[in-house]
Amino acid sequence: MTILEAIQSRRSVRKYIDRPIDKALVAILQDKIDEVNKAGNLHIQLVTDEPRAFKGKMAYGTFSGVSNYFAMVGKQEGDLSERIGYYGEQLVLLAQSLGLNTCWVGLTYNNIKEAYTVSPGEKLCCMIALGHGDDPGRNVKRKTASQVSNASDDTPAWFNDGVAAALLAPTAINQQKFHFEYIAPGPDGIHRVKASRRFSLVGYTHLDLGIAKYHFEAAAGKENFEWI
Ligand SMILES: Cc1cc2nc3c(=O)[nH]c(=O)nc-3n(C[C@H](O)[C@H](O)[C@H](O)COP(=O)(O)O)c2cc1C
Repeated sequence: MTILEAIQSRRSVRKYIDRPIDKALVAILQDKIDEVNKAGNLHIQLVTDEPRAFKGKMAYGTFSGVSNYFAMVGKQEGDLSERIGYYGEQLVLLAQSLGLNTCWVGLTYNNIKEAYTVSPGEKLCCMIALGHGDDPGRNVKRKTASQVSNASDDTPAWFNDGVAAALLAPTAINQQKFHFEYIAPGPDGIHRVKASRRFSLVGYTHLDLGIAKYHFEAAAGKENFEWI
């Protein structure tokens, strides 16, 4: 499965069956964790066979059967939330391509301190539930390209493809508070894209933006533009 196919087929899944993740798949995910932790200066950890984080009243009954998750940890500095989103989504899409399901989780989990390490100066931003889904997830309504960008018949096809992929990104409560603006080349001939956040009372807009930017890049092609 390509990244674009994973983007198309991913849905948030909240119900999982009681089946451990194959050791070979854990090894592939661990390699990718090592890669993104290095690239993004993060401390993401994969926790397996640990059912307590998503049990009890903290889980509000939304999740069931979760016993594997990524603990999304990083040093508390500048753009941590956006980096967690940008690199975490790479793990989500890899998991999807391996036949696993995921759900980003902002609040509804218990903090199981002995299951992962949060060193001094680090922060646990959120979790990503992981496993074999018991249902395919649901189709949620998305915004249109014109609501989140200046995409038009006049903007390049790669930009419009990027916006289409960003619209499929998971966001907290499906808020989609991001915006992509295409800026035509000046004398230097470089196409530029400005990605920004819109106001939200719920928060998580930095994290959502990181996720959406990864989707955008994957479809638009990093070689076609520079971020502003
Ligand atoms: C940062 C973030 C936090 C989220 N937190 C939760 C959560 O606490 N509980 C939950 O059920 N879903 C949570 N979600 C999943 C979103 O509700 C979901 O991505 C959105 O409704 C779009 O659906 P989709 O992922 O199936 O496309 C979260 C998603 C993101 C990106």
